Amino acid sequence: MSEDRYLTFALGKGRLAKQTMELLARIGITCEEMQDKNSRKLIFVNEELKLRFFLAKGPDVPTYVEYGAADIGVVGRDTILEEDRNVYEVLDLGYGKCRMCVCGPASAKELLKHHERIRVASKYPGIARDFFYNKKHQTVDIIKLNGSVELGPLVELSDVIVDIVETGSTLRENGLEVLEEVCPLSARMIVNPVSMQMENARIKKLVSDIRRVL
Ligand code: PRP
Repeated sequence: MSEDRYLTFALGKGRLAKQTMELLARIGITCEEMQDKNSRKLIFVNEELKLRFFLAKGPDVPTYVEYGAADIGVVGRDTILEEDRNVYEVLDLGYGKCRMCVCGPASAKELLKHHERIRVASKYPGIARDFFYNKKHQTVDIIKLNGSVELGPLVELSDVIVDIVETGSTLRENGLEVLEEVCPLSARMIVNPVSMQMENARIKKLVSDIRRVL
């Protein structure tokens, strides 16, 4: 397709977006407009390269990409798995590394071993369901929480949690531990399937340029 069409990026807000812009700068893609911290603008453009960027809440990034509102998205693998959208995952960007784990007090180990019907609290009910039902073949009750998930076992809302572990300090400080690993996580680049065809050359070049510097 013609170079006149803007290629649009949806980036997960916060540290992920910052790391992504740093990575893109290494392959010559920058966005001056984004540097202005006082700006209330939501969409940032690089006219010369015909690129647009916007920041979105992580879980919304795969939605924008599936519908083609963004051609490309950058978001954590946790969000990609949980949202389960029709997008192509094209690249592991290597940053934002952490693990999705089943965590709880040491005493909960037995409950996992014996396939008891336990309560599992998580911000990621889809990932938790897939892990327990499809991988472990264990029937569990899943309770959706929106944050501070470690509270679950502490206040006896749940037996265990399925949550992100990065340094492990939240677990340690609350007397909890990793009981099982669900999967490794990191930032990923996703692409809209139609964009992948229509903008194949530009997207392929972008991916190979990034691969070179990773
Ligand atoms: C995440 C995650 C854990 C914590 C893990 O929470 O849900 O609680 O970080 O990091 P650690 O292993 O380095 O301690 P976040 O800070 O995003 O907030 P939330 O609990 O509101 O989701």
